Amino acid sequence: MSDIIALITKKGGSGKTTTAQALTAGFTAKGLKVLAVDLDGQANLTYSMGVNADGVTIFDVLTGAVNIRDAVHHTDRGDIITANSRLDLADMKLTGAGRNLLLKNVLEGLRLEYDLIILDTLPFFGVLTLNALAASNGVIIPAKADVFNLNMFKRTCDMLNSVHQALNADLKLYGVLLTHFKPNTKNTRDLLGLFEQEAKEQGTHIFNSKIRETVSIQTAQAMQKDILTYQPKSNAAQDYNAFIDELESLIKNGDNNNG
Ligand SMILES: Nc1ncnc2c1ncn2[C@@H]1O[C@H](COP(=O)(O)OP(=O)(O)O)[C@@H](O)[C@H]1O
Ligand SMILES: [Mg+2]
Repeated sequence: MSDIIALITKKGGSGKTTTAQALTAGFTAKGLKVLAVDLDGQANLTYSMGVNADGVTIFDVLTGAVNIRDAVHHTDRGDIITANSRLDLADMKLTGAGRNLLLKNVLEGLRLEYDLIILDTLPFFGVLTLNALAASNGVIIPAKADVFNLNMFKRTCDMLNSVHQALNADLKLYGVLLTHFKPNTKNTRDLLGLFEQEAKEQGTHIFNSKIRETVSIQTAQAMQKDILTYQPKSNAAQDYNAFIDELESLIKNGDNNNG
């Protein structure tokens, strides 16, 4: 049965899509069968993975127009179900009872075929993000190491607590991944302390691995490649590889604790 992990935060530009892409590529390179689902109408993940956004998207699957199997695109760095701007209509079009459980239901049919399903979301707790949270068993909060993201971290946790009660009692918060990290500045050290304090209050933790600010991430995405492939020796590629190992052992230990 696959793990389903959502990248969630109320803040834009915090590294959700970049992390979704790195996890998809990195776990695929480790030999896992990975599916990414792009739930953001901006389609940044779709673009970054080099897939055309004009065809069938997750929106067509959620409306019931298309079978989920016919929406999967294969790449050598993982499978993806794409997004495009029609997803911007989701809050208007996906109505009725059970609207938050559509993704959970359609993914059920694929869970035996994938080791890992990664959900990239948008910084807004609308119907698509609620669908992601209802379908997931784990959440990662990516946060740019700045004070605005620190403020939004608390609000994201408040939302997650509400979702936990209302939609998905099994949802686990795996932790907070700091991105755009500049290790050698006083500002970052101060912020790290504040993030750690807030994480403790929220009953979670900051991952040991932190993703350093690395310009070639943007170049890689412009070239529709992931950073692990594009520049495997870059700071960010090393950090994402360390994060993938850290996450893998966290998931395994969690499974052991449950079983
Ligand atoms: N570690 C990093 N170093 C430098 N730039 C980064 C890093 N992580 C992400 N970026 C860039 O920051 C911008 C926002 O990242 P993105 O993953 O799209 O955030 P989100 O999906 O949360 O909006 C993108 O242009 C991306 O290339
Ligand atoms: Mg994004």
